[in-house]
Amino acid sequence: MHLAILLSLGLIPLVICAPQYGTPPEDHEHPQDPPGPDLIQYDGTDANAYADYHINDWAEGAVTEYPIHNSCNGSEAALLRKALYEAEVLAAHARDHILRWGSSSSHYKKYFGSAATVEPSGWYNKIVNGDKGGVLFRCDNIDGNCVLDGWAGHWRGENATGETVICPLSYTARWPLAGMCMYGYEVSSHEYTSYFASDIHHRLFHMPAVGEYTVDHYAEGYRAALELAVDHPEDAVRNTESLAFFALEVYAYDIAVPGEGCPGSLAEAPVEEEEEAAAPTPSSSSAEAIPASTTSAAPAECHTHSDGEVHCT
Ligand SMILES: *[C@@H]1O[C@H](CO)[C@@H](O)[C@H](O)[C@H]1NC(C)=O
Ligand SMILES: *[C@@H]1O[C@H](CO)[C@@H](O)[C@H](O)[C@H]1NC(C)=O
Repeated sequence: MHLAILLSLGLIPLVICAPQYGTPPEDHEHPQDPPGPDLIQYDGTDANAYADYHINDWAEGAVTEYPIHNSCNGSEAALLRKALYEAEVLAAHARDHILRWGSSSSHYKKYFGSAATVEPSGWYNKIVNGDKGGVLFRCDNIDGNCVLDGWAGHWRGENATGETVICPLSYTARWPLAGMCMYGYEVSSHEYTSYFASDIHHRLFHMPAVGEYTVDHYAEGYRAALELAVDHPEDAVRNTESLAFFALEVYAYDIAVPGEGCPGSLAEAPVEEEEEAAAPTPSSSSAEAIPASTTSAAPAECHTHSDGEVHCT
């Protein structure tokens, strides 16, 4: 190879002329190039080189939008699409807050304690950038649960682990993300499913394609979530409610009402009827009802335990 080419590639000047990093050789042909032989500028050349040999669509068949079943009518599908988009916006910000501030964030410490940051940021990123196949949102009340009082939707559980039913109540009871900190909302005192976006997070995590049988209900309620951050941070980073509370809190604090947010206080947090302080026991209840009341106040919350009993708060 011509010496000038080697020089311009920065391959040998250090060996030839510099005992240490010296002035890079002048390049009169490419005066715009960034200086310094040790700066690597990736221009895609290497990747493109493969295209000369074969076409390899490694991501063939990728699903880039969450599938909505054709049982949803036009209005339902449009609102659901909007809620799914908001769920991605909410997740993307939670991820970005973690990537920017890491565990130095007081919000991070509050919900995830001393746990390493990659797991929660990874869950959020999966909602945003993961393959969106393997899940299905439907509107046809196929299991008959939408007639139950206060049910706004449910995971299909044993009937179809990759499917969730959104009942009509969701469209009237769930709040849009743009209304963060409105309606009297405070993170500590309201259900994490109050916003359609965070409700969708919860529904996605139930489906194995997203939650991987790993994100689950390790603690119920706000108080228990904060305790989990202290006692079992390794569970907090995969606890559905901790992930939702954190996402809502940093969206409120960083985006909606900068520097203030609407975290509420522990004193205002509802006391769970049934303090399940036992060792982490992910509920494997098949029917995860996440209903809401029709009032504009905080939606009521019900959940079904593995014994089939439904608890509402
Ligand atoms: C779509 O479904 C909703 C219930 O979720 C219903 O109120 C609405 O009337 C339906 N729209 C049409 C055009 O059928
Ligand atoms: C599954 O389907 C059965 C029969 O339709 C129904 O009784 C049951 O409630 C469904 N399970 C869930 C989680 O909805």
